[in-house]
Amino acid sequence: MDAFDAIRTKLDIREFSSKQVGGEIRAKVLEAARLTGSSRNTQHWRFVLVQAPANLDVLARDSTTGSWVKGANFAVIVSIDSKVPGSTIDAGRVIQDMQLAAWEQGVASGVYTGMKPGDIRRDFGVPEGLDPAAVVGFGYPKKRLLGRKSRKPLSEIAFLEKYGNPLGSLGK
Ligand SMILES: Cc1cc2nc3c(=O)[nH]c(=O)nc-3n(C[C@H](O)[C@H](O)[C@H](O)COP(=O)(O)O)c2cc1C
Repeated sequence: MDAFDAIRTKLDIREFSSKQVGGEIRAKVLEAARLTGSSRNTQHWRFVLVQAPANLDVLARDSTTGSWVKGANFAVIVSIDSKVPGSTIDAGRVIQDMQLAAWEQGVASGVYTGMKPGDIRRDFGVPEGLDPAAVVGFGYPKKRLLGRKSRKPLSEIAFLEKYGNPLGSLGK
């Protein structure tokens, strides 16, 4: 799968099979995070890998919009230093890189931001000065994924030279 194919076919998935994801893939996901560029290369982010089923249950309880994470094979809590300018862009980039690295290996994932931050801090030891930004849950997909991507057409969201100008044909 090349990079574009990974982007084209990746969906955010919330239902996972019980098949175990190997340690090499889990390591690769974290390595993808480590390799991602951040604002001024500050690398302010920190990651907690959660894979014990009991802890995935706790993670689900600490969430407001991601209770599905209890069915994931593993999850990564992404925390950032919100004082760093661009930190939320950094979070988005690192999340997407982890998701694409996993998907390239056939492992699906979903992300959620609805959390009870105090509870996450307490249960997973996230220190003051770092803010839990999102959780990504990973696992092999439960169902076969068929292209159900719903996206606006490019003509509605991208313009040439000036907002509102149609892109037209971009040639070869
Ligand atoms: C910043 C952000 C926050 C999100 N928060 C949640 C969430 O709280 N719960 C959830 O189930 N999905 C969440 N999602 C997943 C989106 O709903 C998903 O990316 C979108 O519907 C597109 O999904 P698709 O790629 O499968 O079409 C979030 C995604 C992003 C980028």
